[in-house]
Amino acid sequence: MSSSFTKVAVIGSGTMGSGITIVFASAGINVNLVDVEKRFLEEGMKKVRKFLDVSVKKEKITKEEQDSILERIKPELDLEIATEEIQLVVEAIIEEEESKKELFKKLDLLCTGDVIFASNTSAISITSLSSVTRRSDKFIGMHFFNPPTIMKLVEVVIGTNTSKSTVEKIMELCKRLGKEPVPSNEAPGFIVNRILWQFLNESYKLLESGVAEKENIDKAVKLGLNHPMGPLELSDYIGLDVMLHIGDYLADQFGDTYKPALILQKLVKEGKLGKKTGTGFYNYS
Ligand code: 3HC
Repeated sequence: MSSSFTKVAVIGSGTMGSGITIVFASAGINVNLVDVEKRFLEEGMKKVRKFLDVSVKKEKITKEEQDSILERIKPELDLEIATEEIQLVVEAIIEEEESKKELFKKLDLLCTGDVIFASNTSAISITSLSSVTRRSDKFIGMHFFNPPTIMKLVEVVIGTNTSKSTVEKIMELCKRLGKEPVPSNEAPGFIVNRILWQFLNESYKLLESGVAEKENIDKAVKLGLNHPMGPLELSDYIGLDVMLHIGDYLADQFGDTYKPALILQKLVKEGKLGKKTGTGFYNYS
């Protein structure tokens, strides 16, 4: 069934979009990688090349495999061209409901009726996103984890109207991509981010109330829970703007106990978004 996926469009060439592109192209699937500006696409392709270079150096893939993976990826600015003869769209743009809805509205007009729409949203309702299209039965969440090239999990998020056949196709596709799909009915934050948010937000509150220094919060969690990264380090890695979007969304859905800690709001306001901007909870320059 999933062998029917031969060409997909990945929309958004940031960390998640470029990583997802590598995952598909490595599984033999052609990818049109789309963004709104040439410089964003160039950045995305730079990330793709860098990862593949490391993969060759680590002898995970051969030089020939690298070349054929790259041949399968086509950066594209024009949404109409990018959606020609595809079977799937994977949306990985900014985590804003209205921006996503606007994009899906356009895509719905451009794509034939059989094309499945998947969103990599971290928390937003799949049913709400699908409501702007005429294909809510073919609308699903494919939530990859950062870095998508390495992390095994894909949460397969099932909206109210997502059909059984769409779920089956996407579960099978995830396995073809070398991932472990876990289905979840839709609920704010799905499985992982609902849990992760409370965990990370508590670490911010510990820091702002002076209970412990940031290095010690991270050290305690790494050693005490055997996590590869501490919560503050992980937040910088994911992006503090991404975490704030998730926290705001969950607080909106579930109430004030989910409200983002002030320190997170302050850092984002100052443009300190974590590793990608050089500063977050830590300084990377
Ligand atoms: N090609 C293939 N495999 C590669 C690779 C490459 N180019 N680069 C790395 N790998 C694989 C290898 O298996 C490697 O181990 P090996 O080379 O020894 O076999 C393994 O990845 C680890 O790679 P590294 O040694 O380069 O990196 P680290 O050991 O420092 O691990 C990390 C980096 C994987 C990011 C680790 O720190 C980690 O797991 N951190 C936590 C990440 C996490 O929790 N992510 C989820 C965030 S939440 C999210 O995304 C949801 C969103 O909605 C917010």
